[in-house]
Amino acid sequence: MTVTDNLDTAGHRDNADIIGRAEIDDIEAILAVSNTDVDEVYHVVKDNADAIFTWDYSLARPALRKLYEKAKTGQWNGTTDLPWDTEVDFEKVIIEDVSANNLNRDLYVEGPLAKWGDKEWLAFNMDQRRWMLSQFLHGEQGALLCTAKIVETVPWYDAKLYASTQVMDEARHVEVFHRYLDEKLDGGFQVNAHLRLLLDDIVNDSRWDMTYLGMQIMVEGLALAAFGFMHQLTQEPLLKQLLRYVMSDEARHVAFGVLSLKEVYEEMTDGEMKDRQEFALEAAVRMRDRFLSQEVWERHGVAPRDIVPLILQDEQRGLFQQLLFTKIVPNCKKLGLLDRNDKWLRHKFEEMGVIQFEDFEDTGEEYIKFELGETPEDAREVQAVAGH
Ligand SMILES: [Fe+2]
Ligand SMILES: [Fe+2]
Repeated sequence: MTVTDNLDTAGHRDNADIIGRAEIDDIEAILAVSNTDVDEVYHVVKDNADAIFTWDYSLARPALRKLYEKAKTGQWNGTTDLPWDTEVDFEKVIIEDVSANNLNRDLYVEGPLAKWGDKEWLAFNMDQRRWMLSQFLHGEQGALLCTAKIVETVPWYDAKLYASTQVMDEARHVEVFHRYLDEKLDGGFQVNAHLRLLLDDIVNDSRWDMTYLGMQIMVEGLALAAFGFMHQLTQEPLLKQLLRYVMSDEARHVAFGVLSLKEVYEEMTDGEMKDRQEFALEAAVRMRDRFLSQEVWERHGVAPRDIVPLILQDEQRGLFQQLLFTKIVPNCKKLGLLDRNDKWLRHKFEEMGVIQFEDFEDTGEEYIKFELGETPEDAREVQAVAGH
């Protein structure tokens, strides 16, 4: 087989080349990817990049410098700004957070979960919460490594300054998610295999803008949406505040990606944009694959391939999956990724059922709304936490 066998008319590679399977929804292929080295302590990835000095210290990108100033005043302390003395009765929280448990139990009265009663569902939903927060934690570490890499690889002075603040932000996020899992939920889960594949590919790519695209646009775009849902749905005041604080940082991070890449992508050729479109598709699919949470099913004695066809028919869950793309799709549109090369990425997002978000607000300026102390809700939360 020659390389050209896998190219479509616009020169794009096919699904098999990009994501390792021909059909995006091929369940067998998705579940065939799993972590085999669950006990490893270290995971080594080559980062293949040049470290770039710049001697041009002029203010060339005021929008990035403004973001840098915002980042300096938006810092918070994970140790002292969150109410760690909050009692978290984990069982009770999961029972009360019914709407945050993304499976509708009534739909599973037949099939492999037919025998599950309250006890089994509670245990499952507790692990589902642990798993979700664990993937947030591992994703945050990915962001920590990626941003440290951006400090080295981005050629622009203003961007190096900004990226350095994001390194600190991500360290704080790793710190607070880990502490929450460890102290309040009795530990978490290993990294999901699909998430790890994606993080590996982002770190591995030698082109500096790919780190931004993979992390700031795709992973953090999804994280901002996911944190937002959990923040809205959970009744647990410590987690609610933790997520609120993390989101105030994440919104800046996504803005950093949008502002930086817009400039770069406007200058790119169709051929260069093709690679970026393919990378965006790969990231979107990997993130969707991870939400099958196969590790949780396995821990509860259910073979993922027996249950996944059922959960894919669960409309409530399907809607939740789609909503995770509310930030990613408009940002991709703003960057010109949807429509270049005969609308290639638009067609792929249509296939994934997420194109309807293209005209949602992009995240170039949205960070201002997420600043701490900016919403009436913050005031209520401060009161609620003070009175816990
Ligand atoms: Fe983060
Ligand atoms: Fe981030």
